[in-house]
Amino acid sequence: MNLPFSESFRIKMVEAIHRSTREEREKWIKEAKYNLFALASDYVFIDLLTDSGTGAMSDRQWAEIMTGDESYAGARSFKKMHDVIEQLTGFKYVLPTHQGRAAENVLFSHLVKAGNVIPGNSHFDTTKGHIEFRKAEALDCTISEAADTQKELPFKGNVDPQKLDTALENHKGNVPFVIVTITNNTAGGQPVSMQNLREVREICNKHNIPLLFDSARFAENAYFIKTREKGYENKTIKEIVREMFSLADGMTMSAKKDAIVNIGGFFATNKEDWYEGSSIFGIMNEGFLTYGGMAGRDMAALAQGLLEGTEMSYLSDRIGQVKLLGDLLDEYGIPYQRPAGGHAIFVDAKKVLPNVPKEQLIAQTLGIELYLEAGVRGVEIGTLLADRDPITRENRFPELELLRLAIPRRTYTDNHIRVVAAALKNVFDRRNEIKSGYKIVKEKPIMRHFTVELERA
Ligand code: F0G
Repeated sequence: MNLPFSESFRIKMVEAIHRSTREEREKWIKEAKYNLFALASDYVFIDLLTDSGTGAMSDRQWAEIMTGDESYAGARSFKKMHDVIEQLTGFKYVLPTHQGRAAENVLFSHLVKAGNVIPGNSHFDTTKGHIEFRKAEALDCTISEAADTQKELPFKGNVDPQKLDTALENHKGNVPFVIVTITNNTAGGQPVSMQNLREVREICNKHNIPLLFDSARFAENAYFIKTREKGYENKTIKEIVREMFSLADGMTMSAKKDAIVNIGGFFATNKEDWYEGSSIFGIMNEGFLTYGGMAGRDMAALAQGLLEGTEMSYLSDRIGQVKLLGDLLDEYGIPYQRPAGGHAIFVDAKKVLPNVPKEQLIAQTLGIELYLEAGVRGVEIGTLLADRDPITRENRFPELELLRLAIPRRTYTDNHIRVVAAALKNVFDRRNEIKSGYKIVKEKPIMRHFTVELERA
């Protein structure tokens, strides 16, 4: 008999989580004005709001916490982090920041000017925010197939080379860099192939434009290259990572994802002018060049996390668990962005709740139903997140209404995943009874999803 799959770790410390009753949850979500961000975490049984900063550190990372060096300047822990990053990516300049969006802030403060255009593949919200805040444009050049949730493509996060080439032609002289997000979070945690990265590099070379990677989930991207792209089956994750970064001029990183730490980030590059320019903003906004908003112990744990996060055994556990959720949803006939991504399953809410009108927030309604069913918290990627048009102030109704179920790293067991899938099936089974959703009673002019207040429509 073949031995069944099992994780390549055992558990040394546990944290209790609490089941609740439906009556309790009805009260709590009403008090939270039907906003999942407003729920106390104690009221959540399985929390799939995000995979960012929510992972479990290893014994070796905790050991690094104990031996971290807290010197203001020249800390040993910074050197450790610097050396691991250089060894993995080939980038010799490393600017630490407190998290990913801070790396965007310090670099974009140096590079982005009003009227610029920055092409990429589905820029993450904060990336887009930092571009638009500077009165520049984030131009999405993702392949069109990414919007069809039922289409199975191995690299659904890819850049469309034709769209990129045209964008660089049309905006000549006005593009400070191209940004590629690996994996493509917004498109469903979908990977970008090495071939696509190479094509993007060639197009950038042709137009003489530098290339930046938003690298929050670069190791998960490398896993998909190893398992799906011809010629990479026998390479190690670390070899693939090195090859990926050899195609870029720099990287921003939210270490809360693939470095498996609770807080941290950095910008890394070989371009001296980028490092020099952004380090001024680093010192002003984050901290001195050798800590940038992080404690020494956190930098040391980050270094260790990067080494573990780029191990194949870890990545197959991690991405295997996301796939398990996808497989269970397949079994129950519940549609989601196919194939399963690296960090999350994005449930296609329009298909799950066909009777809820779009004005009544379809994906949010599904998120609330799932919470009421079993205390599982996901996050809406739909009308609330899309916000209003800045000029007309009308609601923007995106083509896709998704409920993202992001899986924290090394945190939940496969049994928790089974609970999530079963809860979703129960909601799906009574989809014909769910005919109405929610309406907005109070909202902020920007980033409304975090604080919006709703009531039943
Ligand atoms: N880039 C990507 C692709 C991200 O997914 C995130 C964060 C960031 C940048 C910003 O990093 O949070 O450390 O400042 N994504 C989280 C999420 C919040 O839930 O997907 P940060």
